[in-house]
Amino acid sequence: MTLPQINLNPPFNVTRASHVCLEVKDLKASRLFYEQVIGLVVTAETEDTLYFRGVEEACHHSLVLHRVTGETRCTRVGMRVLTEEDLDKAYAYFTKQGCEAKWVDVPFQGRTLDIADSSGIPLQLCARMPVEPRQITAFHTHRGGMGLRLDHYQILVPDLRKALNGYMDLGFWLTEYVGTDDENVRAVFLQRKGNPHDIVFFNGDGPKLHHFAFMTTETQNLLRACDVAGELGFGRQVERGPGRHGPGHALFVYFRDPDGHRIELFNTHYQVLDLENEPVRWDPHDPAVAFPWGMPARKRWFEEATLFRDVPVRETSIRPTPMTLERYLQD
Ligand SMILES: [Fe+2]
Repeated sequence: MTLPQINLNPPFNVTRASHVCLEVKDLKASRLFYEQVIGLVVTAETEDTLYFRGVEEACHHSLVLHRVTGETRCTRVGMRVLTEEDLDKAYAYFTKQGCEAKWVDVPFQGRTLDIADSSGIPLQLCARMPVEPRQITAFHTHRGGMGLRLDHYQILVPDLRKALNGYMDLGFWLTEYVGTDDENVRAVFLQRKGNPHDIVFFNGDGPKLHHFAFMTTETQNLLRACDVAGELGFGRQVERGPGRHGPGHALFVYFRDPDGHRIELFNTHYQVLDLENEPVRWDPHDPAVAFPWGMPARKRWFEEATLFRDVPVRETSIRPTPMTLERYLQD
């Protein structure tokens, strides 16, 4: 089996990962976490919903928190398309593929299309949002980790090859992957915006949202976010890091928000941009894949993830055995 090739004439033009919609129990606690620890900007709030954007983001929102009672799920992961015409093309494409696609009215967004993709992931596409002032030079307002912009999602899927083929069909570029060879691929990193990834798939029971990630400017911001977390009572929710990734090379720290949703704050990604860059393969047995230095992640980092609202989870037939902190300390 070979890896799929880049599709330079995709059926419509996805430009980037755009916005993630999460359910939460307590808007006050979530606001404290995302505003003070991650350092996002509140664009709008209603009685039951909070809209955040990153410090450098001009578009209305990249994180939407909706209050619910009971279990909290992820309702949608959003992608931007370039034009209104791309939305119509997306509707035609997914309908032809037999995927559920429907037009929906969403506050603070232009025409919006909800889709259940071939892996069951609830996607949301739009081409326009209201524009707000960027806060990048409002230095006196910067807080915590100074989350600049939403960068990517990582999603667990039981059929990795299907997800890879589906997103390559949509014009995503494969930048890096984890596998013993091109047949046995365990993780794929796919991008549309030019840096290492907009969406990452790992093999696992799913679909489930493993994490979403905001970029920040400086390494110091990662430590500052941890310090603010500790001060405000979120210290135990610093789940992994700071540390360095193998694939993508990011310097990162992972947090669990008050509802257990996982967010990564990171910097130091690179630009891809040129077609002659072949995808980089990482050997899953190479310790540098999981942790070039420091300690590996706890078992729960590999296994726990946010469910998607009303999307059944399918079991994977392949059980990876990553080096966990628990195993590492036993050896
Ligand atoms: Fe990530």
